[in-house]
This record gives sequence, C-alpha cells and structure tokens, in this order.
Amino acid sequence: MVDLTSNCAGIISPNPFWLASAPPANSGGQVQRAFDAGWGGAVWKTLGTPIQNVSSRFGGLNVGDRRAVGFNNIELITDRPLETNFAEIYDTKKKYPKHAIIVSLMVETKEEWKDIIKRSIDAGADGLELNFGCPHGMCERGMGSAVGQEPSVNSEITSWAKEYSTVPVLVKLTPNVSDIVPHGIAAQRGGADGVSLINTIKSIIGVDIDRFVPVPRVGGQSTNGGYCGAAVRPIALHMVGQLARSPHFDLPISGIGGVTNWRDAVEFILLGSTSVQVCTEVMLKGYRIVEDMIEGLSEYMTTHGFETIDDFVGKAVQGYSEWGDLDLNYETVAKIDADACIGCQLCMVACHDGAHQCIHPDPNGTRVPIVDEDECVGCNLCKIVCPVPDCITMAEVDNGFSPGTWNQHVAGQAKLRPKKGAH
Ligand SMILES: Cc1cc2nc3c(=O)[nH]c(=O)nc-3n(C[C@H](O)[C@H](O)[C@H](O)COP(=O)(O)O)c2cc1C
Ligand code: SF4
Ligand code: SF4
Repeated sequence: MVDLTSNCAGIISPNPFWLASAPPANSGGQVQRAFDAGWGGAVWKTLGTPIQNVSSRFGGLNVGDRRAVGFNNIELITDRPLETNFAEIYDTKKKYPKHAIIVSLMVETKEEWKDIIKRSIDAGADGLELNFGCPHGMCERGMGSAVGQEPSVNSEITSWAKEYSTVPVLVKLTPNVSDIVPHGIAAQRGGADGVSLINTIKSIIGVDIDRFVPVPRVGGQSTNGGYCGAAVRPIALHMVGQLARSPHFDLPISGIGGVTNWRDAVEFILLGSTSVQVCTEVMLKGYRIVEDMIEGLSEYMTTHGFETIDDFVGKAVQGYSEWGDLDLNYETVAKIDADACIGCQLCMVACHDGAHQCIHPDPNGTRVPIVDEDECVGCNLCKIVCPVPDCITMAEVDNGFSPGTWNQHVAGQAKLRPKKGAH
C-alpha cells in the first residue's frame, strides 16, 4: 500500500494533487467539491484588491481536430469581495481539516501585505502563495510578473511576507524570464519556504482573421494574455528541472504547467516537484480527473517500489545535464516491425524531407519501407511520425567506442566515433 501524502515546504496534503490558483479554486463551494472529488489541496484564486474583469477573456489553441491543446486568458485576480473569500476559506478549512488550503495573494504596499496575510492566516490558510507571476493587467499596475521579473523586488516582498506569516510561504514564479534560476534564488534569499512554477506565459493565442483583431476579443481590441495548458508542459518541466539541479537553489518546488494526467504529474515529481498543481485540464474536464490521477500514481509507485512521494522526488534530476556532457558515442538506429507496419509511408516522407534520406521503398515491392542502418543517424523523427505505437523502435548499436562527451573531446580525453549522415 503506497502513501500519497505530500509535504511541500511544510504544507501537508493527503496527495500531491492541488488545484492551481485559478477559476476552479475561486470559491468555497468549488474547492469543497474538488476535495470531495479527491484533490489533496487547493491554491485559492489570488486575493487582492478586487478587480473588474473583461468579457470575453479566454482563448483556445486547436491543433488539427484536438481542441484547446493550449489555452490563454486575460483574466485578473479575484473579482469577489475579500470578506466573502475569507469566510469561505474559514468554512472550507473547518469542514476539510486534513486538506491543504493555500491562499494566493497579490497586493502592493507593505501594509497591505501585512493586513492580507493576517486575514488569510486567521481564516485558516495552511500556506500562502505569493503571486509574482501574472503576465497581464496586474503587471501594468506594478504587481504580478512585474515583481517576479525583478529579483531584488521579489526578495524584498518575500521577506515582508515571511516577516508577517506564521505559515509556509511559496513564491509563484513567472516563466516570462530568460533564466528562471536567479528568480528562484531571489525568492530563497527573501526567505521563501518553497517556490511554485510556472504561472502563465505571455502570449497572443490567435488572430480573428476576418475582424482583424487578436483573440480573445474585447469589442474591437484584445491584449496579450497568459498561455497555459498541455502545450506549455515542456517549458514548465524545463524550468522546474533547471531550479532542481541548480547547486545554488535548495527549496521545495510545487510544479505547475500543462498537467493533464498522472503521467504528467510523475514527470514533474521526477524533476523535483513535491506537489503538482493543475488549472487548465480541470477547467476543460472537471474535478473528476483527479480520480484517474490518484489511481495512476498509486499504480506507478507500486510498480516501481516507491512507498512515499519523497522516494522519487527529483529522481530524474541526475539525468538532466548540459549538452557538452552527453555521450557522443552512444548510437541508435531505427528498426521497423514489418508485422506491425501498415505501409502508410509517413516515415519515409519524414526521413527523406526532414531527416537523412535513409528510409527507402522495399525493392521487393511490399509497403514496408527499409531503413538503411549504415546511414541512419538515430534522430527519432520516423518514430515520432509513425502512427502505429511501437512499430518503429530505436535500437542501440554496439559500435565498439567507449563513452565520450564533447567536453572530454575538447580536453583531449575522448575519441569520437565517425559521424554518420554528414557527407
Ligand atoms: C483563467 C485563468 C486564471 C488564472 N488565474 C490565476 C490567478 O488568479 N493567480 C495565479 O497565481 N495564477 C492564475 N492562473 C495561472 C494558473 O494558476 C497556472 O499557473 C497556469 O494556468 C499553468 O497551469 P495549467 O497549464 O495547468 O493551466 C490562471 C490561469 C488561468 C487559465
Ligand atoms: S531515425 Fe532519423 S535518420 Fe534514422 S531512419 Fe528515422 S528519420 Fe531517418
Ligand atoms: S510510418 Fe510506421 S506504419 Fe507507416 S510505413 Fe513507416 S513504419 Fe510503417
């Protein structure tokens, strides 16, 4: 029996799945339904001076027949009165004492931070999340990503929060920076107990090509919004991994960005996250997705012999290195399973036009193409386009060369195998 309990920076929840601060965590009724569905924690929709939102405010990125692979919003923080939010937080915490409620906050002055932190803790918050990440609207008012992009301001406001808070403080980082590490370190310098990332990515999700205005359209105008959903997961994983492997950063991480199922969550945990937050997938499919996430995670842990979440937090960080430390003598070639192949020829087109021209028609006239292994550089493209799972596999080649990296080669310490496909 595995134990899914998560302890992220001292915030304990029955499982590592938290609602991210966003519409699904906007009210007590919603958060309570989410807890009933199985979510372990919820980061309440950011509280601050209530704002007025625009209509419309969301946009979806469709790719082929897949809808909302990416998602974008120009929504701001809560538009509900603070008193209402605090009363609902109090009520929810009382009814669900074992679940984690993290209150997301965004205000301006030191006095305002002091006041809103006290009220959040009085309402029963198990932790705070400082929203230094919103990339639209609030940053024009000097908050959100305007704070997250400036390490000295990030550190200073974090230190105010730590001065006033008696519960753990997470700093939510913006991905709208060229290197996430100095920003994580800034939060650490300010005394943060942990960081959460990513918030949304500054973006325009599309253009209405008949009305000549970007979307989402607000009358005759639009503005840049925050990008999220499945499509941003690779960016989020990179940023989480960058922080987790930095020798100068040593805080717990709550991973966010494009999580759609248990497998995505496991990827975040393996790259260093202790809890995982979800927004867009819940907006698209509802709270019930957590049932499969809990079941899938439990089965994964059983299969790998992990008893607790901590058993595998960061287990893939050691496998994330610089390009110069990769083994240039490691070699693979594509192999086609003739029995599985449906003869669609997609691999041949891709290899000929997008790779190394080494998949050819079968001279015997069957529809199963032939890989010229002497020319194959092992790039994976054919495997990526092949519509039949496991029909193309990448087989390791024993080329007789010992491992050798670029950095070793430059230092005269490695002999590299002859290049393929470079003639
Ligand atoms: C409509 C919408 C509103 C959001 N509002 C907030 C917010 O108030 N505070 C906050 O910290 N993040 C907010 N976010 C960002 C999410 O919490 C999350 O960081 C981001 O969407 C990435 O996760 P996802 O890919 O699972 O959606 C919002 C996202 C969306 C889509
Ligand atoms: S791995 Fe790359 S080079 Fe090799 S056959 Fe496939 S597409 Fe061509
Ligand atoms: S893409 Fe896959 S199924 Fe199609 S021809 Fe190539 S190997 Fe066969």
